[in-house]
Amino acid sequence: MLKFDRLLETYIAYAPRGFKLFSMGLPLWLKQKLYTPRELDRGLNGAYRGRYIFTAHHESHAASAFFPSPFQESAILTLDGVGEWATGSIAMGRDNRIEMLQEMRFPHSLGLLYSAFTYFTGFRVNSGEYKLMGLAPYGEPIYRDVMIEKLLDIKPDGSFRMNMDYFGFCHRDVMTTPKMNELFGGPPRKAESEITQREMDIAASIQVVTEEIVLKIADHAHALTNSKNLVMAGGVALNCVANGRVLREGPFENLWIQPAAGDAGGALGAALFTWHQLLDKPRAAAEYDHQSGSLLGPEFSEAEIGAWLDEAGAVYQCFSDEEELISRIAELIADEKVVGHFADRAEFGPRALGSRSILGDARSTEMQSVMNLKIKFRESFRPFAPAVLREDVDEFFEMREGEDSPYMLLVAPVKEAKRLNVEEVERMRGLDKLKEIRSEIPSITHVDYSARVQTIDPRRHPRFYRVLQDFKRRTGSPILINTSFNVRGEPIVNTPEDAYRCFMFTNMDALVLENHILLKSEQPNAREIDAAAYLAEFELD
Ligand SMILES: [Fe+2]
Repeated sequence: MLKFDRLLETYIAYAPRGFKLFSMGLPLWLKQKLYTPRELDRGLNGAYRGRYIFTAHHESHAASAFFPSPFQESAILTLDGVGEWATGSIAMGRDNRIEMLQEMRFPHSLGLLYSAFTYFTGFRVNSGEYKLMGLAPYGEPIYRDVMIEKLLDIKPDGSFRMNMDYFGFCHRDVMTTPKMNELFGGPPRKAESEITQREMDIAASIQVVTEEIVLKIADHAHALTNSKNLVMAGGVALNCVANGRVLREGPFENLWIQPAAGDAGGALGAALFTWHQLLDKPRAAAEYDHQSGSLLGPEFSEAEIGAWLDEAGAVYQCFSDEEELISRIAELIADEKVVGHFADRAEFGPRALGSRSILGDARSTEMQSVMNLKIKFRESFRPFAPAVLREDVDEFFEMREGEDSPYMLLVAPVKEAKRLNVEEVERMRGLDKLKEIRSEIPSITHVDYSARVQTIDPRRHPRFYRVLQDFKRRTGSPILINTSFNVRGEPIVNTPEDAYRCFMFTNMDALVLENHILLKSEQPNAREIDAAAYLAEFELD
């Protein structure tokens, strides 16, 4: 009802503009969304007899950030597009309770601001934000001042108002208005058309503006709560470049981010909020956290997988000895093979953490373009992330002392000692930067010498840890490329069948399904790859 209230008020404020949007949206509200309990009863065939509890959107985000965190008490920061009215909130978590303190309200929203430029640079809103962040290091933040002067009115506490003459999301079906085009020398980029220096510079600019705002809000949250800990959730908390700066430059000693920081994580938050806050169940701080490595999804038994592979007519080797299995996986990767790795429960959240991952050798100079163009069929500029043994992270990356990043939500600089060709890269513009070998681990070093680090510890990701250990024993390198097991536009694979299909339709060399290993070269029904047909099944993201 609160969200409906926001929609009505917004429509009324802009009327008669926005009538088209209003008339399109209203039927769904009147038929379905206003009757959520009835719809849930229908979906569950009446099997659920309990009460329905509606938690506020940002309350759910806040709960998903604090309750699974390792902290007994913590400041809580949530930032996203929009919930009911709130677009961001500051709260305080203590033991088994959270207290909401302050919020920022629609239409002023850091998430919607970032999404407006996701749209303007020709990427898809709600999924292309990653691309905008990945594009930022290719550009210069030459539009920062224009953005801050014309588009925003930023207060000292980090809250801000947006100049709605430039933004269309209240009354149009696109994110910006023609007035925006005047500021950036022309209309938005068309999807899939060439990316020019303008888009790179816009990406760099909005990224810097976002970081500055998040840092201001973090300062304010610290002043309000006086806590040394910070937890975060909401879509903006997936901006791992901003997160890295909060950790390095912000006032907090410790930072924990909900891995499912987007709205999927709201489900977890609502459940934990009900359990701890409403039912008053106790909660204790944990040495690691209460997120179980975020391995909260479905799993499949070795027997199930074996039976399925036989039915599919696949050729595979089955390992009964775990040591041999781990050793073989590491050997394949050390051989510069691209390996699809499927084991344990699937990850909850947008990042693959080793359970549904494609793995490769981070030292390979070819791997970034091979993986982008021949495996994932996505844009060549997009960076890959490293998975590194927890105990070796400080040798390669400038993390804060003792800090880990088990959920791949922090970006850190690659250590200067590991960098190569620094002057050459600096001289180059745009995508040319990709041509230089940037470090000893080139495939995971972004063009600004940063990397989105995942640290692997034996407690949270035991199997992945052992693979990395074995790989290091063979090669001396404790780092692998870890990218999600899917092609562009495809959801991350979930079942063995999804994984096998993705393996067969891409140029992946090997597939590990729990204790079974398949080599592409041995598959009887391996054929000329018709990637176009496979990709056509998925809408481009
Ligand atoms: Fe949200």
